[in-house]
Amino acid sequence: MTSVVELTDRQKREKEYYDQYAGSFDLNREVDFSPVVAKEKRPWNSYWSVYHLAAESFKPNALLLDFGSGPGDNALRFAKIGYKVEGFDISESNVAVSHMVFEKNGFSGQGNFQVSPAETLPYPDNHFDFIAGIDILHHIDIAKSIAECRRVLKPGGIAIFREPLEVPLLDLIRNTWVVKLFAPKKKSFELHITEDERKLNQTDIAVVGKIFPNQVLKRYFLLARFDKFIREGSDPQPSLLEKIDYFLMTKIPALRYLGGVVIFVLKKD
Ligand SMILES: C[S@@+](CC[C@H](N)C(=O)[O-])C[C@H]1O[C@@H](n2cnc3c(N)ncnc32)[C@H](O)[C@@H]1O
Repeated sequence: MTSVVELTDRQKREKEYYDQYAGSFDLNREVDFSPVVAKEKRPWNSYWSVYHLAAESFKPNALLLDFGSGPGDNALRFAKIGYKVEGFDISESNVAVSHMVFEKNGFSGQGNFQVSPAETLPYPDNHFDFIAGIDILHHIDIAKSIAECRRVLKPGGIAIFREPLEVPLLDLIRNTWVVKLFAPKKKSFELHITEDERKLNQTDIAVVGKIFPNQVLKRYFLLARFDKFIREGSDPQPSLLEKIDYFLMTKIPALRYLGGVVIFVLKKD
């Protein structure tokens, strides 16, 4: 189903970027299910933590919304947990890829995807048991989208979002020309950076907290910032720096405020 709402300029740019970016996906790629099937837990890894939280909340016949579902890999892992999954994305190509990924992996009956902007969702009120969004809020209008998230979530339901977060002091250093020389930040397909994305900040956290007063924040990613210089992004082995971050933030809670990734755990009371 295709949404008929008139898109904003920002939404059009995101759609155009991801319609093109989706063309780079290898449809025969193997989706890595380890975050949902491995015996080992990785509480220090923010992505694995999203799946742990989803698995903890799972009940038979539960309906999960993958909020900004991209090419469908995350949705497939939620389906592997046992959820019936709905997903939406502004990019038609991503939605088409998601259907193919579900079919290829034998999960067609467990997932459905629609083209829609996050700011106006095509679902009824109080519809989903659980909502999960990965790397999505920093691409969209947060106030409108989180209001929609709350509307479609069942009372008592949980929504979680994993997002990059601004840390003013560290970002000041990050944005110096010397660092940008080694790690550019301009729009790029190779680096997977769109023109409009930006890290969340304290104002965004307050906006989310106004809509979901029952909000818990989990922080990650301190020394692991340096992984991009010493590890392949797709390396499936655990990151030593993420483990050290987890240890340090547990022992010295003040360090959490330097964490560059946040997971929002939002409950609709
Ligand atoms: C960084 S990707 C993350 C996708 C997916 N959650 C994942 O982790 O693979 C950002 C996604 O947001 C989608 N997007 C951007 N703006 C959007 C909007 N206003 N409404 C819905 N989806 C949007 C893009 O098409 C893209 O798939």
